[in-house]
Amino acid sequence: MVSLQDKVIIVTGASSGIGLASARQFGREGAKVVMASRSLDKLRELAPSVAAPERVLCVKCDVTQEAECRALIEATVARFGRIDVLVNNAGISMRALFADLDLKVIHALMDVNFWGTVYCTKYALPYLLEARGSVVGLVSIAGYSALPARSGYSASKYAVRGFLDTLRIEHLKDGLHVLAFAPGYTSSNVRRAALTADGTAQGETPLDENRLMSAERCAQMLSLALRTRRSQILLSPLGCVTVRMRQLFPRLVDRLTYKYIAREKGSPFK
Ligand SMILES: NC(=O)c1ccc[n+]([C@@H]2O[C@H](COP(=O)([O-])OP(=O)(O)OC[C@H]3O[C@@H](n4cnc5c(N)ncnc54)[C@H](OP(=O)(O)O)[C@@H]3O)[C@@H](O)[C@H]2O)c1
Repeated sequence: MVSLQDKVIIVTGASSGIGLASARQFGREGAKVVMASRSLDKLRELAPSVAAPERVLCVKCDVTQEAECRALIEATVARFGRIDVLVNNAGISMRALFADLDLKVIHALMDVNFWGTVYCTKYALPYLLEARGSVVGLVSIAGYSALPARSGYSASKYAVRGFLDTLRIEHLKDGLHVLAFAPGYTSSNVRRAALTADGTAQGETPLDENRLMSAERCAQMLSLALRTRRSQILLSPLGCVTVRMRQLFPRLVDRLTYKYIAREKGSPFK
């Protein structure tokens, strides 16, 4: 098992939820952590909970901006001299039927979830290859089995998965580790920040967040997947069953998924 001790790990979207819990997990395991997100003040406030000042770097980076992603990679190399792991975690979700949706919502989802991953990976790749390191994408069960009212979210996560799977094959012979990591429902801010039909944030969650997997547990599993160089993880048992069943009985899974989402609090099907 590879240790994370002294590895240089970039986490995008490190100001909240799974990204923050992962940054803390990596810090506890002795890594040097680069925390990136749009809110620099928040990152600086949180950094002491991640690692000692000389082992943590906070960088303001909106992943929809290619130049900022490039600057994130440059800042990391300038400070720590190498990059061992890039965790493309920054992400947003949505909740509205496609028929009601302003198309700017799908653009926003693709810009953060897909293009953010592509930009950061592009600029980090030479360093990751040098280190025979890892690139991770936070996908989702919705990137394997579509979720209604999340057309842009599902599409962006399918796209990220396709991108990562391609990258893995292209670098099969040169030691790059590529991980598509798919949590199930995990307690975080993602549903409150999710965009509605007109692009404004939902502001509330339809789920009981206390009953979901904790972001800390998710981060522990991410660390394990990194250390064991797994190529794909689907974290939720229900997600695993759904994905397997979709391959065998796709129309049945469509009907079950419809029913599941229709039962959600405030479902757009009602
Ligand atoms: N929670 C779940 O149930 C779940 C399930 C499957 C997959 N995931 C995936 O896990 C990842 C993390 O989500 P989470 O649940 O932890 O959500 P979260 O608590 O809402 O955190 C999202 C993070 O992304 C950052 N972010 C958003 N837009 C950004 C941008 N343009 N540039 C840079 N950073 C940006 C946010 O920071 P700032 O606002 O400070 O920029 C925040 O740190 C996402 O990719 C999500 O799709 C989550």
